[in-house]
Amino acid sequence: MLSFCKLLAVLPVALAASAGPMVLHERRAAVPVGFVRQGAAPANEILTLHVALTSNNVAGLKERLRSASTPGSAAFRQWLSMDEVKAFAQPSPETVSAFNTFASANGLKPTVISANGDWVTISLPVAQANTLFAAEFEVFTHPSLPGPITRTLSVSLPAELVGHVEVLDPTTAFVAGDVRPPGPASSTIARDAAASCDTSVATGVITPACLQELYGIPTSPATEDANVIMVTAYEQEFAQTADLAQFLTLLRPDIPPNTTFEVVSLNEGLDPQGQFLAGLEANLDTQYTIGIATGVPVQFLTVGGTTDLFPTNLLNTTAFLDGVPNPPTVLTTSYGRDESDFGASLATKICNGYMALGARGITVLFSSGDGGVRGNHDELSICSNNTFLPVFPASCPFVTAVGSTFGSAPETAVNFTGGGFSNVFPTAFYQTAQVAGFLETLPADFPGIYNESGRGYPDVALQGWNFEIVAGNETTLESGTSASSPSFAGIIALLNDRLLAAGKPVLGFVNPLLIRRARRRLRTLLRGITRALSVAFDAAAGWDPLTGLGTPVFAELLAAAMAA
Ligand SMILES: *[C@@H]1O[C@H](CO)[C@@H](O)[C@H](O)[C@H]1NC(C)=O
Ligand SMILES: *[C@@H]1O[C@H](CO)[C@@H](O)[C@H](O)[C@H]1NC(C)=O
Ligand SMILES: *[C@@H]1O[C@H](CO)[C@@H](O)[C@H](O)[C@H]1NC(C)=O
Ligand SMILES: *[C@@H]1O[C@H](CO)[C@@H](O)[C@H](O)[C@H]1NC(C)=O
Ligand SMILES: *[C@@H]1O[C@H](CO)[C@@H](O)[C@H](O)[C@H]1NC(C)=O
Ligand SMILES: *[C@@H]1O[C@H](CO)[C@@H](O)[C@H](O)[C@H]1NC(C)=O
Repeated sequence: MLSFCKLLAVLPVALAASAGPMVLHERRAAVPVGFVRQGAAPANEILTLHVALTSNNVAGLKERLRSASTPGSAAFRQWLSMDEVKAFAQPSPETVSAFNTFASANGLKPTVISANGDWVTISLPVAQANTLFAAEFEVFTHPSLPGPITRTLSVSLPAELVGHVEVLDPTTAFVAGDVRPPGPASSTIARDAAASCDTSVATGVITPACLQELYGIPTSPATEDANVIMVTAYEQEFAQTADLAQFLTLLRPDIPPNTTFEVVSLNEGLDPQGQFLAGLEANLDTQYTIGIATGVPVQFLTVGGTTDLFPTNLLNTTAFLDGVPNPPTVLTTSYGRDESDFGASLATKICNGYMALGARGITVLFSSGDGGVRGNHDELSICSNNTFLPVFPASCPFVTAVGSTFGSAPETAVNFTGGGFSNVFPTAFYQTAQVAGFLETLPADFPGIYNESGRGYPDVALQGWNFEIVAGNETTLESGTSASSPSFAGIIALLNDRLLAAGKPVLGFVNPLLIRRARRRLRTLLRGITRALSVAFDAAAGWDPLTGLGTPVFAELLAAAMAA
């Protein structure tokens, strides 16, 4: 922290530096719904801001990802190394020099916090931040947050930093509440109830065996150790090993009950064990990755940091993986927020982080949200004027977003499944024909307000209703796209295992392959879903914004993966 004397020394310089022209960077027209203004932030409060220095060649990285992920291209599945990605993602010497000149002129000491050098932190008092970035930092509260947060509704850059700085965080991002989508209520079940894998009936309960049967997922153990699934956890969600052992004993008795996950901690994230510490999300995610991806090693990444810093914590995750030479091959995340909470520059930077992971051969999966077209919520009031709210990171074109189905004859989109169109990211290069095809199915007088030119999500779907898990030593039913993403991650990991065993590269960023193959062989590769209960969009043949391309058929996916 800066001392008071230092603060006095710094201020005049800061004021001098503010004399130059300022360029608006991000702005909110109003305080986001639910937040309450508590007045100006104290002038001497010390802020730690994360600064994203502009990557030198995002367009080049995107082009490499496009060719590595598109079947038929010469570079197909030639995933990049850590250093190759760094060459695209790191800031140019001019950018580093421009920022360092600015920093030293203003008495700031930047600390580089990412392997690619594109993230630095600076600590400075509110008064100086207000001057340097033409901001007005204020204190805000939200009933769901444990304490006040300091944010500004507007942030600008001095002209000499324009083009060199992509993001200042946290500034205009406002995140509150539970970043875990609010799934339908969980309930404890009696094990002796007549069970069925058909969740369209009252006794229908999904177990690993149901998913294996429904999608033809093999039960034989994986053989390749270099293929690892990483399950992320935010929000103090703790995965329990005792519950996992009980889950395996009950529902995967053919897997050794001492099979477990490796805990990886980031930003002081924890994973304490105890009967009353079970995180439903963390248990669901670990139980259904380990329970589906038989024999695939699973890492549980527990990320510390508070809810209001969820965007920062997502960045922390990608920045961490950027520095891991042999990263996991599959990353699954069941957390998200309204895209509008982030702001365009921050969402873009985070999304580019997933682009970089995809280019390294990591399949990045996200649950698509549980509020249908109402963003991350299910309160009707939020969307009363028919304006649909997309969910991020599912809306990022470089993740594979997974929606939810239920029932089995036929499988149907479940009415909470999140989907729609981004307001930040344009229609992705791999989905233009599919999105256009879907939009043609909408009636001319369709009342929903959504962004026709945006990236459409989800990409795929899988069951998401009444998953049996063990939590706190009791069996419980959990529902939501939170269940679908880890299960799909398990399928991707098993496909990777077979690819590696055959001496082939892993799937990596998989959306173009799924679309290409689905276009030619929709019925056999992925089941199209034509019934839906959505309050807004309806499912359609081909791609739709409820179930994407549909649900997996393991043998068909394996054949497509091997042939490509
Ligand atoms: C699990 O138990 C088996 C048999 O008791 C043992 O061979 C194996 O090493 C154990 N695995 C772990 C990860 O503890
Ligand atoms: C993660 O966040 C912590 C706390 O904000 C910070 O100290 C650390 O440098 C961050 N790491 C990365 C890789 O961003
Ligand atoms: C409709 O709702 C959206 C999302 O809540 C909001 O941003 C927009 O301002 C509203 N439009 C009108 C005309 O009320
Ligand atoms: C979804 O379907 C369930 C069961 O039919 C119903 O109770 C619920 O109200 C529906 N939710 C929405 C948002 O329509
Ligand atoms: C619609 O999405 C595009 C990106 O595809 C974006 O530039 C535009 O601002 C969005 N429109 C609205 C109203 O958000
Ligand atoms: C967990 O439940 C089982 C029975 O379902 C019981 O045998 C066991 O003692 C319980 N374990 C704990 C730690 O309560």
